[in-house]
Amino acid sequence: GQDGRVARIASAIRVIPDFPKPGIMFQDITTLLLDTKAFRDTIDLFVERYKDKDISVVAGIEARGFIFGPPIALAIGAKFVPMRKPNKLPGEVISEEYSLEYGTDTMEMHVGAVQAGERALVIDDLIATGGTLCAALRLLERVGVHVVECACVIELPELKGRDRLGDKPLFVLVNAA
Ligand code: PRP
Repeated sequence: GQDGRVARIASAIRVIPDFPKPGIMFQDITTLLLDTKAFRDTIDLFVERYKDKDISVVAGIEARGFIFGPPIALAIGAKFVPMRKPNKLPGEVISEEYSLEYGTDTMEMHVGAVQAGERALVIDDLIATGGTLCAALRLLERVGVHVVECACVIELPELKGRDRLGDKPLFVLVNAA
């Protein structure tokens, strides 16, 4: 399968209890970025999976999708499109609201960054409830882009975010308890 690389990636992710609030076990990927072999392996595993899938767009979700997305995009010959928090992108945007534990948030994408009929990979560091990835999917699908797959470094399977994606495939490297 994916040899010893996934084990090293998993052990390079630091878990910080009670951040940003009590009861949350924060999955900190900054320590993965310090391990040059584990970081390279993370990118390589995604590139191996997506290089021959005719993907023209890698859509990365703010903030940590901006770390993993660009090296994957360059390696597979796709463009990189940032999916951002509201009022960050300077051009004309389309927006999608999504629900959080308390209240809502909005994700934005530049109009004209993608064209109908393109094939996209959506990338983020982590899926928890799946609300964020769902919003990204809706944004891309509204403008006629085909999302081939969503990919994350880490999944929190207990939160069942995968179920919210319906039949859209989700690929993850590491499951966190
Ligand atoms: C985290 C994570 C994902 C999202 C997943 O981002 O990086 O983007 O939450 O949660 P969900 O599956 O429940 O939607 P965060 O909200 O910490 O924002 P940030 O990346 O801008 O810090």
